[in-house]
Amino acid sequence: MYWYHATTKHSYNSVRTNPNYVDWEDQPRTHKNYPDSYKKTKFDIEDAEDNFLYHIAGMSAKKTYPSGTHYLRINPSAGALYPNELYFQVRGVEGKGDGIYHYEVSTSSLKLLVELHNDEGMEPYFGYDVKMQGYLFLVSAVYYRSSWKYKNRAFRYCLLDAGHLLGCIEAAALLKKKHVKMAYNIERVKLNRMFGFEEREWFLAGAVMAERMVDTEVNAIEFELPYVDASRSFEKNNLIEQAYNETVTMQNCKMQESTPLFTYQTAKLQDTLLHRRSQRGFNKGPISKVQFDFIMDAIHQPILSDCDDDVSIYMVLNRVIHMPLGLYKDGEYVKHGDFGKHAGYLSLEQYSLSTEGAVAFFITAKSENYQALYQKAGIIGHRLYVASLYLGIGCSGIGAYYDDEVNEFVGNDEMVLYALAIGI
Ligand SMILES: Cc1cc2nc3c(=O)[nH]c(=O)nc-3n(C[C@H](O)[C@H](O)[C@H](O)COP(=O)(O)O)c2cc1C
Repeated sequence: MYWYHATTKHSYNSVRTNPNYVDWEDQPRTHKNYPDSYKKTKFDIEDAEDNFLYHIAGMSAKKTYPSGTHYLRINPSAGALYPNELYFQVRGVEGKGDGIYHYEVSTSSLKLLVELHNDEGMEPYFGYDVKMQGYLFLVSAVYYRSSWKYKNRAFRYCLLDAGHLLGCIEAAALLKKKHVKMAYNIERVKLNRMFGFEEREWFLAGAVMAERMVDTEVNAIEFELPYVDASRSFEKNNLIEQAYNETVTMQNCKMQESTPLFTYQTAKLQDTLLHRRSQRGFNKGPISKVQFDFIMDAIHQPILSDCDDDVSIYMVLNRVIHMPLGLYKDGEYVKHGDFGKHAGYLSLEQYSLSTEGAVAFFITAKSENYQALYQKAGIIGHRLYVASLYLGIGCSGIGAYYDDEVNEFVGNDEMVLYALAIGI
């Protein structure tokens, strides 16, 4: 097991002896804005490309609490801390000048960081030797936004949240009948330097929604952007930095080239993405076997990727009509029993989710490509949100669970990457 994962486990005792106290007055900023010297274009929601981009990570709800106003987004995030930033290169797309852009969530705008000239582009950093027409996305993390609250465990959340953002790109692409390939073998160290991140932000993944342009040549673009503050405050976390640096290069990657097949109807999918929210608790409502099978099909579709490691999806069935209670692995029955109460306990006693929901999920894996693996768990989690909400069933990610006790329950010694629950 990767040492970082092993040292950031939660247990019944650890959460009691080492609680996370946070100073809400001093929360890091959750969005990054490049100065206005960069050309800024506001999204025009009537424009097809802007509409697509909005459905990836736009602000979609406003909640007012005594502590202030919080803006929620198309993408979910552990603790609504939104550690990730989104950048992309666009080439040959109508209405968009060829260039490298930052997605400015707080103002629903794009900032043009670098224009593309001649035969230059980011393609070589993604491993392509020809120009790619379309979008090359880059997802980064500003880790202090998350480590401010979640301390050492935050690298896990940065990766899960990044996986959700990749899942958002995949889902929004379906609105345009396009597929997205996850790219983990990108030249992160070089790109981090070119973007001026100064160790406070780093790239975690790329996502390709683009076609090869035959008979074209492309050279690796070189630039040096200045550092732009993305969190206001910052505290260095040595453990997280070490974990990032050690796992920055993927090894022995398996490609996944099978295209996933989804059966969503576009208008309904669009509505689902726009109104996606996490459900705070369930009311012990059942789901049907047909609904369950639809959701299983969506989450088990292949994920196009240049580094696709295996994960196991365990499920505790509490309330699926005509299906026996018990623990299942990848759709196969493992053991019979009413484990709902225990699933709630394992999810750090979030009984209203994993006990009162229809199904509780635990995703585990043993491979060492930690960054790719963890983001894959986030993508699967996102597919679970989309498929469930599409059917009017609620969903919530659960980043906190008693790691070793989940292993004991499911009967393996793999890394427990993520838990989720769905229900009514
Ligand atoms: C990786 C991850 C872990 C999460 N963990 C929990 C959790 O343990 N308990 C919970 O109630 N919600 C959890 N959530 C839901 C977030 O609190 C929620 O996404 C955030 O507040 C934004 O709200 P929204 O999803 O409705 O937009 C998690 C979400 C993600 C993406």
